[in-house]
Amino acid sequence: MSTVNGAGGRDTWVLGIETSCDETAAAVVDAGRDVRSSVVSSQVDLHARFGGVVPELASRAHVDLLTPVVAEALVTAGADGPDIAAVAATIGPGLVGALLVGVSYGKALALVWDVPFVGVNHLEGHLYACFLDEPNLELPAVVLLVSGGHTMLILMEEQGRYQMLGETIDDAAGEAFDKVARFLGLGYPGGPAIDRLAMDGDPEAVRFPRGLLDEAYDFSFSGLKTSVITHVRKNPDLAVEDIAASFQEAVVDVLVTKARRAAQATGAKAICLAGGVAANSALRERTLDACIADGLQAYVPSRAMCTDNAAMIAAAGWWRLQHDGPSALDMGADPQLRLPVM
Ligand code: KG4
Ligand code: ZN
Repeated sequence: MSTVNGAGGRDTWVLGIETSCDETAAAVVDAGRDVRSSVVSSQVDLHARFGGVVPELASRAHVDLLTPVVAEALVTAGADGPDIAAVAATIGPGLVGALLVGVSYGKALALVWDVPFVGVNHLEGHLYACFLDEPNLELPAVVLLVSGGHTMLILMEEQGRYQMLGETIDDAAGEAFDKVARFLGLGYPGGPAIDRLAMDGDPEAVRFPRGLLDEAYDFSFSGLKTSVITHVRKNPDLAVEDIAASFQEAVVDVLVTKARRAAQATGAKAICLAGGVAANSALRERTLDACIADGLQAYVPSRAMCTDNAAMIAAAGWWRLQHDGPSALDMGADPQLRLPVM
């Protein structure tokens, strides 16, 4: 495949690789903004019968899937090895075995192609998904980062400069969706199943507790999960649609209330959604309504950019490369990696 500038490569194309959990993903992104390709191979079917991600199975599936996924990302982008200016791979947080597959693969490609390798923080990747859909995103912005493993309220002051306003003290929002769905027999992952059922349910049917609603910015969802379980056991005839809608309403109410509060207190210009739970229909709708009411910009990335993907890793990797330079090739995976905050 030919190159654009004839000089041996397009010097702003980054290949992103994401293998932190159960999605094997690769993408080519130009200058951290323009998605040339984004391929995601989900292992959901593989893990569904176990009701959650089985780490060893995830690692093995990444080994099998990564080569074809990277090949498809390159072909779709119209890129060849020499077209790629850098390789960015997720180094954490995540499952250590799964991470190591992507990190080793990314380093090997960087060595073969003789281009820089950039290790990317998965959480920072989710923040950068906002820029892919909205390159002119206005900062400072409050980002609600809600996934299967994390629930964070972050003030993004400028690119790479974050303040952690609050976090969950127990379950993550996505974890609550998954656990409640499992209890209701809806399978894994639970978020999309509850989202679908809730569309036919009454969100006011049951007033479930809003954990820590009056506390500033921290979250708690484990009491809500227990409350749903207790309520359903006592009222077995309640329609599952109503339970799903009422549970979802409790989660969304807390998330949106705190994001609005944070935006008001910090003078942020915008509220952004990020992470898998940001694919939730009610959360998206309520965030848009709240931003209109409060005169804020709302950045709600496409559903594909909310859930795990490699375009967001390539975008964050591009920025890190400009800002910090390449990562050392002895950089390892860090399953407990935190977002770099001030
Ligand atoms: O960001 P993500 O793809 O992976 C992690 O890094 O965790 O998020 C996955 C989480 C799962 O808990 C899943 O149930 C949840 O996002 N999720 C949703 C929806 N789609 C995915 N939760 C609520 N509503 C959805 N539509
Ligand atoms: Zn994620």
